[in-house]
Amino acid sequence: MLFHFVQGQDDNNNSQDTFMAGKVQINIDGKILECPIIVGTEGDKAFDIAKLRAQTGFITMDPGFGNTGSCKSAITYLDGEKGFLRYRGIPIEQLAEKSTFIETSYLLIYGKLPNQKELDAFSEAFNEHSTIHEDMKNLFDAYPSSAHPMASLSAMVCSMSAYYPELIKENPTKEEIDRIAVQLLSKVRTICAFSHKKSIGEAFVYPRHDLRYVPNFLNMMFSSPTKPYKIVDEVVRAMQVLLILHADHEQNCSTSTVRLVGSSHANLYASISAGICALWGPLHGGANQAVIEMLEDIQKDGGDVKKYIAKAKDENGRYRLMGFGHRVYKNFDPRAKIIKQCADELLNKLGIHDPLLDLAKRMEEAALKDEYFITRKLYPNVDFYSGIIYRTIGIPLNMFPVMFAIGRMPGWIAHWKEMIEDPTTKIGRPFQIYIGAPKTDYVPIEKRT
Ligand code: CMC
Repeated sequence: MLFHFVQGQDDNNNSQDTFMAGKVQINIDGKILECPIIVGTEGDKAFDIAKLRAQTGFITMDPGFGNTGSCKSAITYLDGEKGFLRYRGIPIEQLAEKSTFIETSYLLIYGKLPNQKELDAFSEAFNEHSTIHEDMKNLFDAYPSSAHPMASLSAMVCSMSAYYPELIKENPTKEEIDRIAVQLLSKVRTICAFSHKKSIGEAFVYPRHDLRYVPNFLNMMFSSPTKPYKIVDEVVRAMQVLLILHADHEQNCSTSTVRLVGSSHANLYASISAGICALWGPLHGGANQAVIEMLEDIQKDGGDVKKYIAKAKDENGRYRLMGFGHRVYKNFDPRAKIIKQCADELLNKLGIHDPLLDLAKRMEEAALKDEYFITRKLYPNVDFYSGIIYRTIGIPLNMFPVMFAIGRMPGWIAHWKEMIEDPTTKIGRPFQIYIGAPKTDYVPIEKRT
């Protein structure tokens, strides 16, 4: 098989957001397949193999999809080598400093920053949709108080399709998608806070009209009929930053899941429920919980970070330093940089000393000097320092992945919307290379050994 690159413009290109720059010719036993080269606005290159199987009988094999583009997207751009991340073109550093989670959600879903009127209407819709159907409260009783909140969150989000059936249509209108989007963004924080209250045996605290998104969530989580919650600006700001930084990350495991499930025209609630399950895993959003568990274990074991770095090296990937490494970032995860600074600032302002933060910093310093981590380009990722902030705020450990899910909600919605509105979207259906038994006849049970 030969690959040959042919430079040039393709006259058949109709797309406005990408351009074709020649083609790659794949020569399979003398049969030539021409694959157009697609170039994105930031210079990312792909060659389109859509006709490969039909014309040659071959498929490609790419476990973990490390070389596979599943779609074109205009939502988020990241450069893993240079270590930067932008939502709709805007660097996350600027958004973390100047924006709010609501505004960033609007940006991701609708493709532009809202003007004042649009932002006011969007915020107002959050208030309108903040409560959950009263009957949904019964669902919390069905779960044991020990249930992991990601299990109940995923079930509750899917159950919304049962409580709001009028919004479940195969071809929803733009207005219907808008309504589900704002419902999901608003109700998810109520569901999360209620599940926390249920797990500690306290009465649910309802959302308030006079509070904005983050203070409202904190109030539902931490106030009770006997104990009001004091809203602290620094805490609100730290949580805003975390939610903004988690809001999207292009085709990661959970977002790809949302797109894949949605490609069958499953409704938005069902697709996002599947995304929540994908996020739960410790290699993805569950890592923020796993990092703190790891740091606590190291602390209990005397705090020797080098011992755990050696363990990660010796066990050939079977023991991993949680919060380290990333499929795309091979320089530094830009989110981790901001979060580390945010954790330092928050703890300083609140006058809190968390020994786990010191331990995490020692771990980072030692790992970044170690040959194993240097050669594999393993750096702290978004999950390494975020748990320190959640702990400071008082969020329970098993709710850390839930916080990630609240943050990722606008990204999932934006991707589902982009996928469903794209007329070229096809149902996701990869192929395989079968390695099982060849044709084998059925053996009646009495003749089986
Ligand atoms: N500790 C020790 N070794 C590691 C780690 C780690 N955290 N991560 C990767 N490696 C090693 C791995 O063993 C392999 O070594 P070798 O080349 O000798 O076989 C090499 O680095 C490449 O690893 P990989 O598994 O091929 O990389 P990947 O791109 O498939 O996996 C990852 C990326 C994030 C799943 C992985 O780095 C990992 O498991 N990290 C720990 C879990 C974690 O922090 N996850 C959060 C990711 S960021 C937020 C999110 O996406 O939700």
